[in-house]
Parts: sequence; C-alpha cells; structure tokens
Amino acid sequence: MSDRYAVIGNPIGHTKSPLIHGLFAEETGQDMTYGAIEGPLEPADAFADTVRTFIAAGGKGMNVTAPFKLQAFAMADERSERAALAGAVNAMKFENGRIVAENFDGVGLVRDIEINLHQPMAGKRVLVLGAGGAVRGALLPFIAARPARLVIANRNVEKARALVGQVAADATLTACGYAELESMEQFDLVVNATSASLTGQLPPVPPGVFSASGTAYELAYGKGLTPFLRLARNAGVQGIADGVGMLVEQAAEAFAWWRGVRPRTHAIIDRLTVPLD
Ligand code: ATR
Repeated sequence: MSDRYAVIGNPIGHTKSPLIHGLFAEETGQDMTYGAIEGPLEPADAFADTVRTFIAAGGKGMNVTAPFKLQAFAMADERSERAALAGAVNAMKFENGRIVAENFDGVGLVRDIEINLHQPMAGKRVLVLGAGGAVRGALLPFIAARPARLVIANRNVEKARALVGQVAADATLTACGYAELESMEQFDLVVNATSASLTGQLPPVPPGVFSASGTAYELAYGKGLTPFLRLARNAGVQGIADGVGMLVEQAAEAFAWWRGVRPRTHAIIDRLTVPLD
C-alpha cells in the first residue's frame, strides 16, 4: 500500500498542497498518496481524534493549516526549536508511535527569498511587518540568515518586543512601532507578514522604508497587487513578490523531511504563480 499523507485545515477547499505534493511524488518517484482533510472545528478534542484516526489508518505525515496549527503543536510528542518558538506546527511526521512536529513556513520563506529571488539576506537590512504567528515561525530562520539588521515592526509594539525578547539577545534584532520607522534608514528587504492584506488593508508603513534596489515581499499568495505591494511599487521598488514561492518551498521542506529526497520547485512555482497585475 502507498504511504499516506494529507493536509488538514478548515476550510480546506482551496488548498494547493495535494497538487504540489502529487507533483513532487511524481517527479521523485515516491510511492505515496496525499489528500485533503477538513478538520472538525468542535468539540475541542475532535481535531486530535481526526489526526489519531489518520495515524491508525497508516498515515505517515500531515501538513497543518488554519485554524489547527496551535492544536497540532499541543498534541505533538516532539517539537523542533523553530516550532517551539512559533508555538505553531505546519508539518507532522508519525513514526514509532510518536508525533514529531515541525514548522517549515519560515525556512520556506527564506529559501524563496534567497534562492528563487536571488536576494541573500546576509549583511542586509531587513524589515518584517507584523508580530503574529507568521512572524513567530519566520524569526529563527531569518536570524540564521544573518542580516546586518532585523527590525520587527508591529501596531502592538509590546507584542513585537515580547517576541524579540524570546530569542537570545542579539544587537541586530530590534522591535518597534510603525511611527519609529519614519526616522529609520531604508531597508533592502521589507516583508509584509501581517494579516492586513487578507482584508485588503495596508499596514501603516511609511513609503520611505523601501529602497528602490531592494525587495518587497507579501506573504499572502494569489491576492494580486495588494495595497502593500502597490505602495512598494509606487516607491520605485524593483523587486516585488508574493508568497507563492514560500508556499511551494515549505512544501518541499516537508517532503524532504518525510521522504528523504528533495523535489525540484521551480516548475511548480511557475505553474502556481498568479500574475500580480
Ligand atoms: P498570523 O498568524 O496570520 O500572523 P495573527 O497571529 O492574528 O495572524 O497576527 C496578525 C498580525 O497582523 C499581527 O501582527 C497584527 O498586528 P497587531 O498585533 O498589532 O494586531 C497584524 N495586522 C493585522 N491587520 C493589520 C493592519 N490592518 N495593519 C497592521 N497590522 C495588522
């Protein structure tokens, strides 16, 4: 019987994960299936029951998406360091009766920026907008990429400070509010990791933070030219990108973790790319 994998979320109708993993399996010749499961929202323990039923039926691993990333974290037996800082899990591996949990969102984002967009972060000035789950997942991989400066800006400054305070003291890493960005220098990379774009809103980021030769990255995927990307473009930024590459790269990380073979990502990113305008 083929090894079984699935993504679990609610809603789950729009997920691209079965398509992506199906193409990975085809390309690498792996004998596996990958489905989509709509997880139950209630009662409270129904999510864990659904995962355990999948394991009992021979499931080898799962991707986890909204709103279950915290529940997946809670039910895991082992968690990676980056999953622990994120407090959230986007991939699980089931082996020897244990649930091992990972979070590949941040690594996927860094790989997309550094490899696909050819923008290595080492020595660069990097600004991240937001301090929610997406940023918690990305923080350790961002620090590991060794930027010269890493600023986390959030409306709720205390939330950004608390997050920065959770990682080892590092002079290159600071937290601030949006108003303080007015008096800062330009950044080589600005990442919008707020949920503002999901509702068509613009974080109050001053256009002066963008550098024309730099990159503006929108975590949301397939939303076209969001207000954030439009602001960046109007500020003359040459490189603007949305999160399609991150989506495929985090999937590739999970696939390599499960199967021990790394799939190629470029053709799939091209296939899933929705033109920004
Ligand atoms: P996620 O898990 O997607 O990151 P979250 O944990 O709810 O979601 O966090 C949402 C992030 O988007 C927060 O940083 C939030 O800012 P606050 O913490 O100050 O609320 C940010 N956010 C949402 N809407 C925003 C907006 N219109 N402008 C700026 N930031 C916004």
